[in-house]
Amino acid sequence: METCILDRNGFEMAAGENGHRGLANEGFLAGLMHDIGKLLLLKVLDSMTTENSDIQLTHEFIAKLLRSKHVEQGYGLMKQWSIPPIYANVVRDHHREDYDQSDALLLAIRIVNQMTRKVGMSATPNAEIVPAALPEVRILGVGNDLLVDLEKIIVDTAKNDS
Ligand SMILES: [Fe+2]
Repeated sequence: METCILDRNGFEMAAGENGHRGLANEGFLAGLMHDIGKLLLLKVLDSMTTENSDIQLTHEFIAKLLRSKHVEQGYGLMKQWSIPPIYANVVRDHHREDYDQSDALLLAIRIVNQMTRKVGMSATPNAEIVPAALPEVRILGVGNDLLVDLEKIIVDTAKNDS
């Protein structure tokens, strides 16, 4: 869900300078949808605990469930709703180790996802991430200046939303 904090301009930047900037609108939408499996799971858990107050779920259990099942559940929802593959594939592959390196939209989402982790705007923060070293950054040809601007936008957007 972290990626959805970026607006159209942020995705335009993430899409890089090699002819992918037209993906800004798609990036914004894909950013909104890519972790929809988490929302689905949270909704199910909320219904369960509302219907049965005996069910007590730990924070750790919920976090592990979201981490391990959100892609599968989100992709299932994409298929059920007949969402176009350009978005469904992002939902399916945004954490995958072997991904389609020619899918610029997927690459942009993966970059923003990692950058939200770097700045601590994620359930799995990791300050050690070096955006310039990400394979997706190299493949898309995102320059250092753009990465700095993108990080600033992510941080500013997060501040404005809190
Ligand atoms: Fe995710």
